[in-house]
Amino acid sequence: MDDAVIAKVARSVTREPSLPLMLAEVARLLADTLGADGCLAFLADSGGDLVLAASHPRPAGAGAPLRVPEGSGAAGRAAADGVPVVLVADRPRHPLHRELLGLSPGQPVSRLCVPARVAGGGSSAVLAVHSRARREFGEAEVDLAQRVADLVGLRVSVAAALATMRDHQDEWDAVVAGAVAAQEAERRRVAADLHDGLTQAIASLTFHLSAADVALGDGDVAYVAEQVAAARSLADLALGETRSAITGLHSPVLENQGLAAGLTAMARAVPGLRVDVDAAEFPVPHHVSTSLFRVAQEAVHNVVKHAEASRAVVRLARHGHMVLLSVTDDGCGFDPPDEGPAYGLRGMAERVHLLGGRLRIRSGPGAGTTVEVTVPIAL
Ligand SMILES: Nc1ncnc2c1ncn2[C@@H]1O[C@H](COP(=O)(O)OP(=O)(O)OP(=O)(O)O)[C@@H](O)[C@H]1O
Ligand SMILES: [Mg+2]
Repeated sequence: MDDAVIAKVARSVTREPSLPLMLAEVARLLADTLGADGCLAFLADSGGDLVLAASHPRPAGAGAPLRVPEGSGAAGRAAADGVPVVLVADRPRHPLHRELLGLSPGQPVSRLCVPARVAGGGSSAVLAVHSRARREFGEAEVDLAQRVADLVGLRVSVAAALATMRDHQDEWDAVVAGAVAAQEAERRRVAADLHDGLTQAIASLTFHLSAADVALGDGDVAYVAEQVAAARSLADLALGETRSAITGLHSPVLENQGLAAGLTAMARAVPGLRVDVDAAEFPVPHHVSTSLFRVAQEAVHNVVKHAEASRAVVRLARHGHMVLLSVTDDGCGFDPPDEGPAYGLRGMAERVHLLGGRLRIRSGPGAGTTVEVTVPIAL
């Protein structure tokens, strides 16, 4: 008899794809087998409260589900202690609970509550069998109910583990997508830098050299000298552009001497703007210093491009296990958007998010801008 019931429960637990339908089916099987009036099935939520997931024979209803606070009532105690609770004359107070049990005012009920125990401690669900006629649930009945509940517990644990895995997978997919998008955006930025700086300089350089070549044939030495001088200054410009494109991509100073030195070198290479650096050198994990360097670089880049500022300051400091980086300018300021189409600010936010840190932009029209980053590091 018991084995036949356990086999039916096992079939439902392993084959019914919907958790509430499986619980409803098991509640019905258990109540019928024990000759009880019905059975409620609760699931434990992340806070330890029990939430009604299925009810036999009265359906759970469409409204807010019945909740049993952690540790309270017969079901709550069964979940908290991980042992069956038998009450011969229980008087649940909650009106919805009384309605589900089919009780008239003041009427007591006999109950058997069994926890679905989870390996490693705790309970993931409770099956609560009830009988309106006074009844003692015997040892064999309690044992059977507990075996059923443990099968249910197995299924609930597997479902929870699968849901957690899916969440992790979604988070990981988002991280990978963000990293790929960031990589693509940096590639586009490098292409734009090369196009705007280097290619233009080399195109003009070629033009001046051709002009010098033609003038050489004509014997116009003064014009040749003029063209060669123009070509030389363009070659210098191209060299400068190449250097700054390379520092933009890769900072040997950052790698060899640390973040403070890297920021100082980056600030010195900024064209047409005074950038002061107030940075202490302290050990920072490599991936953190690379990310902070990129954030500072983009923030300074933005000052040059948008702020019309006369001065910017880059600060780097450590407070306990937090690293603080800020870039402040005295420029025109702007209204920081929540989320913009441009890559710069979004890229900064993504980098900081990946490090578990916080990015704040304080700015307003006419008030200058401060980009502030706080990132935790292990000491
Ligand atoms: N320091 C600043 N001062 C004034 N305005 C700024 C400053 N930083 C950003 N902005 C404004 O915020 C906008 C968004 O900046 P963001 O870095 O995201 O994009 P972008 O610099 O325009 O383009 P990208 O960085 O993709 O090359 C800028 O277009 C600019 O209007
Ligand atoms: Mg930008």
